[in-house]
Amino acid sequence: MDSRLRGNDSREKKEIMNKKTIRDVDVQGKKVLVRVDFNVPLRDGVVADDGRIQAALPTINYLLDNGAALILCTHLGRPKSPADTQFALDPVAARLSELIHRPVQKMDEVVGDSVTAAAAKLGAGEVMLLENTRFEAGEKKNDPALAAKLAALADVYVNDAFGTAHRAHASTEGVARAMDGAAVAGFLMGKELEALGTAVSNPAHPYIAIMGGAKISDKIKLIDNLLGVADKILIGGGMANTFLRAMGYELGSSLVEADALAEAQRLLEQAPDRLILPVDVVVALEFKADAPATAVSAQNIPADQMALDIGPDTLTLFADALNGAKLVIWNGPMGVFEFPAFAKGTNALAQMLATAVDAGTEVIIGGGDSAAAVKNAGLSSKMSHVSTGGGASLELLEGKTLPGIAALDDKS
Ligand code: 3PG
Repeated sequence: MDSRLRGNDSREKKEIMNKKTIRDVDVQGKKVLVRVDFNVPLRDGVVADDGRIQAALPTINYLLDNGAALILCTHLGRPKSPADTQFALDPVAARLSELIHRPVQKMDEVVGDSVTAAAAKLGAGEVMLLENTRFEAGEKKNDPALAAKLAALADVYVNDAFGTAHRAHASTEGVARAMDGAAVAGFLMGKELEALGTAVSNPAHPYIAIMGGAKISDKIKLIDNLLGVADKILIGGGMANTFLRAMGYELGSSLVEADALAEAQRLLEQAPDRLILPVDVVVALEFKADAPATAVSAQNIPADQMALDIGPDTLTLFADALNGAKLVIWNGPMGVFEFPAFAKGTNALAQMLATAVDAGTEVIIGGGDSAAAVKNAGLSSKMSHVSTGGGASLELLEGKTLPGIAALDDKS
């Protein structure tokens, strides 16, 4: 391992993994409140992508098989008030019911008399879904009164909402504290922590991180943290432009973050051999799906053109860097992958990583856009792990403590 890598000690990893899980509690005949992240896209009143619901099924089915009565809760979107009825959970309840082959009693309140009465009557094997937790003003404020009302519904609290674990909200953090010794992690939470926790501390080497997406300013902390543990960081997407500009290249009309140039310069000086930047890019005159695309050297970007993808020589460079890697983590697309003409770099990288998995490399895909890019390429199932959390996986990789996890009971 490169002596410059300071690594995090194994104590940190143990702290992440040392939480009680549903296997550590008896749920037979108990009322179990499960915080899931069913923040799923809706289209025409139905769930357009049920990936996050599917990801919670192992926990839900385990609890049902073990005789629990289930009270599920989740947020959906960012409603301002219950008047934003497009964020009501009826379509989510309908899809969940299809997936678990049993009725789901959808409540019209998060807490209140109707919920208290229905929860009291709920029997083993029955499932109830509370209304969108963000319809309660106290949710995002982590109001102790709301947390206490949620806690009063159940004997055990399970947090399986990895995607929301970076939020200290009443249904994630407050309720876990209010349960006073009966708050544990679900299987999805455990799986995410296992995969991402490995990358945070004691990763296998060579460990290659791949960063993309539009902005470097969002990811400076992440790059700083990764430089402490990864052997190399491959950089693509819009954020590469700011690094290339900091190296003195002309970027034409490409997106460059002027405010982040000094930070880019600092990172380049800190790790000149370990930050790998594009050597060529695909450019176009306009940010348009049908704009003609041309590959040019990163040192010869025409003044009137903008970089929208990485080029073929960069893919070769990245393939060389990935050769023999034991662990790869990918966060952020390599270009404007929503436009097919500028998705080639992202898709080719996804394919390269799928091949690497076959050769024994552990490949972890951060959530959000990278997960969408791998899905677009039809390669999700080929990866070792695709995170269900965008912001949560970023914060975990930045080395932050996630409040929704910290609040759960420790094993010892
Ligand atoms: C997500 O989709 O990343 C999570 O569900 C969290 O949603 P939020 O960013 O609205 O808190």
